[in-house]
Amino acid sequence: MNYAILVNNNNKIKSNYLNRVNLISATNIDIEEVFVEEETYKAYLELKEFLETKGIYIGIASAYRSLEEQQAIYDEYVLKYGKEYADSIVASAGASEHHTGLAIDITLKINDNYLITNEELMNYDYIFKEIHKYLKDYGFILRYQVDKEKITLYQYEPWHIRYVGKFIAKIIDENNYSLEEYLTEFNGVLVINKPKGVTSFDVINDISHLFGIKRIGHTGTLDPLAEGVLVVTIGKATKVAELLTAAFKEYQAGVLLGVETETLDITGNVLNTKVVPFDLNIEETLNSFKKTYLQEVPIYSAVKVNGKKLYQYARNNEKVKLPKKDVTIKEINLLSSDRNTFIFKCLVSKGCYIRSLIRDIGVSLDTYATMTNLIRTKQGKFDISESNTLDELKQGIYKLHKIEDVLDFPVIKVDSKTEYMIRTGQKLVNTYDVVDKVTFLNSNDQLLGIYEVKDNLLCVWKNFV
Ligand code: DAL
Ligand code: ZN
Repeated sequence: MNYAILVNNNNKIKSNYLNRVNLISATNIDIEEVFVEEETYKAYLELKEFLETKGIYIGIASAYRSLEEQQAIYDEYVLKYGKEYADSIVASAGASEHHTGLAIDITLKINDNYLITNEELMNYDYIFKEIHKYLKDYGFILRYQVDKEKITLYQYEPWHIRYVGKFIAKIIDENNYSLEEYLTEFNGVLVINKPKGVTSFDVINDISHLFGIKRIGHTGTLDPLAEGVLVVTIGKATKVAELLTAAFKEYQAGVLLGVETETLDITGNVLNTKVVPFDLNIEETLNSFKKTYLQEVPIYSAVKVNGKKLYQYARNNEKVKLPKKDVTIKEINLLSSDRNTFIFKCLVSKGCYIRSLIRDIGVSLDTYATMTNLIRTKQGKFDISESNTLDELKQGIYKLHKIEDVLDFPVIKVDSKTEYMIRTGQKLVNTYDVVDKVTFLNSNDQLLGIYEVKDNLLCVWKNFV
């Protein structure tokens, strides 16, 4: 269930939407049956109970609406007030949030009577304002805020509350976003501490559900066996993923000597074993790998040969020539060792497979070597000490790095004239003495784009608006 679903004039409700939603029967202020999405209703009852402790009594005026019901309301408003006013206050059929079951129009009980008309409700705006303070604690947002009419396309509606869940409601509240702004402006980079046993894709999927944002990616896959720093890009930050992937990475790896497996790590079938020589100088051997060398890609990897992933060749028992790639081992150090195991730390370039490095170290030691565990401790400037676990993330404990902060380009704030030129994709004169690339923000700190120097002019490299 996507609680961040956006329904408006540009995003009409899909005809199969209700297949995935559990609508619960409830009662409105006229003691008629209405329907509300399950979690939304639970949250509403909690909010209502809390407000009663403050002497505020609310009821449901309207909740889920079918297309026909919405059409009837729209037609009634057009008839009463004309189309222009109706369009500013009522959505057309298909464009209303009420189709989701996640929106409730609440009303107030004053002197034992519920308020009915919009005019009456507006007279008690000060009570609604008190209610709005607590919405986020129950997972609701005020959907049609003051001064956001141009974005939400509707006038301020103090009564229309929308369930998005506590996690998203908190972010929206803190940033004073509309739902539309949250879904387009909430961008950045998260540093996650991936646990063992799940794929990088599983992590992305969890985060995507949590934020209700589809455009989420990761830079540099970690296999299920591996843990540690997984740099996650949210929203527009996915546009700079390639830069983050290119960074050097630091790992701590465990090695078992004397064993060769199919996958080059401990999860694979054992192919060969060999006695481990007694007189190993692991430190010296590791030092000899401090170089750039041509490394053979593991067969159990997603690298493609002739359009097919290498692990597919392996699974089908098909022969394939494994590609080799230049990799750089910038630093490599032994941390501890035993008779046939050791742990080392290394700083390596993009594309380096630690499993392959370990295999090659094994060959140098005149035995076999298999990876037993792997922790990514750093990717570029992101250190594991600053990472957050998925549990922390779920509790709202995380740091979202701004896109401009994670890149090493100069950041320049531009005036409105230059902003217009950037928004319209025009080239700029390099009055800023930019050498390679530059990040442009507008006067409100909104990220506009990254430009690069080409033939002495500044040209769009990535556009964010
Ligand atoms: N009043 C809101 C915009 C609706 O009709 O859905
Ligand atoms: Zn409403």
